[in-house]
Amino acid sequence: MRNLVEWLKREGGLRIIEEPLDVELEIPHVAYLEVKKGEASRPLLFTRPVWRARGIEYEMPVLMNLYANRELTEKILGRHPDEVAVGIEELMKLKPPKGLKEKLKMLPKLFALKNVFPKRLGFRGECQEIVIPSEEVDLDRLPILKTWPEDGGRFITMGQVYTRSLDGTMQNLGMYRLQQYDKRRLGMHWQIHKDASHFFDQYRDAGKKMPVTVCIGGDPLYIWCGQAPMPHGMFELLLYGFIRGRNAQLVKSLTNDIYIPRDVDIVIEGIVDPEAMEIEGPFGDHTGYYTLPEPFPVMEVETITMKKDPLFAATVVGKPPLEDKYMGWATERIFLPMLKPMAPDLIDYNMPENGVFHNLILAKMEVHYKGHAQQFMHAFWGVGQMSFVKHAIFVGKEAPDLEDYPALARHILDRLDPAKVLITEGIVDQLDHASPQTLVGGKLGIDATGPEVPKAYEELLSDRELLEKMQALAPEIVAVKQYMRESANPVTVIAIEKERSAKEVIDLLEPLARYLAVLAVVDAGNNDLDNPYMLLWRIVNNIDAQRDIFLQPFVAIDGTNKDANDGYMRHWPGDTHCDPDVLERLREQGIVEYSSKDLVRWGLIPFDLYGEKPE
Ligand SMILES: Cc1cc2nc3c(=O)[nH]c(=O)nc-3n(C[C@H](O)[C@H](O)[C@H](O)COP(=O)(O)O)c2cc1C
Repeated sequence: MRNLVEWLKREGGLRIIEEPLDVELEIPHVAYLEVKKGEASRPLLFTRPVWRARGIEYEMPVLMNLYANRELTEKILGRHPDEVAVGIEELMKLKPPKGLKEKLKMLPKLFALKNVFPKRLGFRGECQEIVIPSEEVDLDRLPILKTWPEDGGRFITMGQVYTRSLDGTMQNLGMYRLQQYDKRRLGMHWQIHKDASHFFDQYRDAGKKMPVTVCIGGDPLYIWCGQAPMPHGMFELLLYGFIRGRNAQLVKSLTNDIYIPRDVDIVIEGIVDPEAMEIEGPFGDHTGYYTLPEPFPVMEVETITMKKDPLFAATVVGKPPLEDKYMGWATERIFLPMLKPMAPDLIDYNMPENGVFHNLILAKMEVHYKGHAQQFMHAFWGVGQMSFVKHAIFVGKEAPDLEDYPALARHILDRLDPAKVLITEGIVDQLDHASPQTLVGGKLGIDATGPEVPKAYEELLSDRELLEKMQALAPEIVAVKQYMRESANPVTVIAIEKERSAKEVIDLLEPLARYLAVLAVVDAGNNDLDNPYMLLWRIVNNIDAQRDIFLQPFVAIDGTNKDANDGYMRHWPGDTHCDPDVLERLREQGIVEYSSKDLVRWGLIPFDLYGEKPE
């Protein structure tokens, strides 16, 4: 790991912060602000973490923002993710060779494949140099972070969770957050659709306790592998071997039969009793909302082992952009060839960071027949973690680059035809808060692969004129902003001081249909109509397509927070916000820099604390 620090200094401009900073809020807030710098963001090493509430000073540094930007992500992978994807595609297209010449040509590829399979070593790893026996286990001794003020406690945020099927034939690596309950118990937040949860079901059904080993650190590629959506039954470290061109070297955990990489920094081994669930959360998640407290399995720690000089790797999740944007970018690129067998005419796809991956996917395809885009929608919604995607927009091959968002938005709006919008139902990510019930919710598919459509409005007004007319019908409307006015379907965003359901407000606006094509409604209290990046984040997060999208007399989208007036009977969670005092303190110490513009731009603190909105 010392090598990693040197490597990060050289390749990633590692910033070393030597001031003592609290694991509660201070360190996470610094990392949160760092990743907002985009490509300029750097990895961070906090050499003096402290836990003031408990009077603990840690010797173990905290390493954050490892996947600081695209360039560093590429360096961690060793090559551009598109190149990895090409390798995977080649592998998938491998055909039996004809004749000696072809056989010889294939040899290097086959030879490289021998690196894919993890190697089990018969001795202890560096990660087992220090062994903390059961009676001395104390999770307080690890610099575990509390990210957000309303988090239910401290959470390990970059834990590699290694599990095994009951019959021992399958091993899995998944990245799941882990809540620290006390000195020896961790909450296992593997969601119901994930592989470790499937293994857990096997142990529960057999009435057996489940061994789990959690690793922290080591080669940063393990972290990426942990979040990679590999098909069920495939060990993620196969992908490690494929990308590195070197087998993952594994050693046996000391108290169970789970094999883990020899070079990780910290290993937490334990047992999960399927009978003992405990409330997990709340936790400010990568949706930018707190996930609600729910029961999850609990691990009783048996032993902790570590390297001599371990580093504690962690990340921050909250509102985008986040570190997972870069991991997600690599995943998106690398998994493209794996999507193609089920959707062969898929050219490319993109998951915008402000759509927090499962809330919005853009896909480019070659269209060969009527209903082709619909066929793809169903394929996506039916397979693996793609099935979490709430909103999918398909464009044809002539569409602009999928990352050229302004041009693409225009292209889509010029082809938006309510007759080609599919609204249906399916599974949603367990984190989704918008659906009327957990796990199942609305899905929206837009087929924008067709020709341009005629203008969907009769006349456009200025924002001011439109606001006046709207206020005459619904006084709770406080602001209007129109986007993409030159397109066939201009988008009018209105902010309301919500007192009744937004649907009632939308209905009241019917007399103004001649001025409207697409209307999006948001709450005035926590949205800035001049910030399309965060508006998109908010709207795709907050809507359940079946409840919140209306196609007549104009397309209307209710992106407001929901309550009983909307028939929403769950608890609507709050946004993640930094603690303003902590931010101010960090700024006074010269550790972070931010302007009042940044506060607004990234929604760092609640809107009512901004004071005057900066220009
Ligand atoms: C920073 C980060 C935190 C995550 N936390 C969780 C989590 O707490 N629970 C979960 O089920 N998935 C979480 N995920 C997503 C999983 O890692 C991802 O779905 C992975 O593919 C799961 O692996 P599996 O299919 O082997 O279960 C997280 C991803 C990232 C990048």
